[in-house]
Amino acid sequence: MKKQIVLTGIKPTGMPHLGNCLGAIRPALHLAEQQNCESRFFIADYHSLNTIRDADTLRAYIYEVAASWLAAGLNPDKTLIYRQSDVPETFELATILTAFTAKGLMNRAHAYKAAAALNVEGGQPEDHQINMGLYTYPILMAADILLFDTNLVPVGKDQVQHVEMAQDIAGVINYNYKKDVLVIPEALTTGEMMAIPGLDGRKMSKSYDNHIPLFLPEKQLRKRIMKIVTNSQGVEEAKNPDACTIFALYKLIANESEQHALAERYRAGGMGWGEAKQELFERLNAFLSPMREKYDALMADRSRIDTILADGARRARETAQRTLSRVRKAVGIG
Ligand code: ADP
Ligand code: TRP
Repeated sequence: MKKQIVLTGIKPTGMPHLGNCLGAIRPALHLAEQQNCESRFFIADYHSLNTIRDADTLRAYIYEVAASWLAAGLNPDKTLIYRQSDVPETFELATILTAFTAKGLMNRAHAYKAAAALNVEGGQPEDHQINMGLYTYPILMAADILLFDTNLVPVGKDQVQHVEMAQDIAGVINYNYKKDVLVIPEALTTGEMMAIPGLDGRKMSKSYDNHIPLFLPEKQLRKRIMKIVTNSQGVEEAKNPDACTIFALYKLIANESEQHALAERYRAGGMGWGEAKQELFERLNAFLSPMREKYDALMADRSRIDTILADGARRARETAQRTLSRVRKAVGIG
């Protein structure tokens, strides 16, 4: 059976958090280990440029994201990891795709529509501070995907529409030239099934500032966990583990007997929230420590990250060049 090409992009917008790790990174790495898959992960740095306008910040985020994936277990010998900007074929393909993309399709993109709606709500002109990068974002993302003849794109629910746009654009090209110039990709929304809660009980997200960054130093991690919002039950009261963010997070990383033991302590009463948080901190710290060590080592030697990314880009470009010359030929360029 032909191997399925699996590709996903990660926007470097800050150090990944526990929700990203359990909801996206780990399921994606698990998928990468499947025999019938060939996986590629890339750091979507040009996508971040739409919002991050400080060069040092963007550079730092790129390394943080690369180091996080490597620390979480990505094996660069088996799985490609590269920087989008190191694969210039992406941008030529994006230019070609632009010619086949209806403007109306871009008008319907959620990300653009949400930004425009926010402007209108705030009494601003619809396109206030909206750059063309945001507007044409789905075209660049389609190029990222189509460049590698990708079959499966693991993404969060919010990105499914973008993958469907990649399908549309590829479909227009295939229809026009009456042959399969581009492979039609499918979105894969595993991981998203479980929304990891954040400190305030809402979905964990950087945008709510309720997240637990993966590689905080121990002391800061503990401080962050102590911020979890709980009800006002006193120490002696029996507590319901199933209605509590601390336990919800504990469950994600503890084994069954650990979960059972902590649930019993909830139900018995006599355990205050501070103590429950301390339990979570210790379990989470044990879970993160080995990864944190790898992460810190990588961040202390960025040239190692550079070497891994450069090697990934070199290998990615071999496929990218093949696809691009196929597309150029099909459309009559060059
Ligand atoms: P944020 O909301 O913090 O900006 P992103 O949108 O960058 O996070 O998330 C990247 C991916 O991580 C998402 O597509 C999704 O698969 C996963 N993810 C993020 N937050 C969570 C969460 N709370 N629970 C489960 N998965 C999540
Ligand atoms: N748009 C995705 C996000 O915001 C990141 C991304 C860019 C991507 N290009 C991609 C994801 C290609 C999958 C495939 O999370």
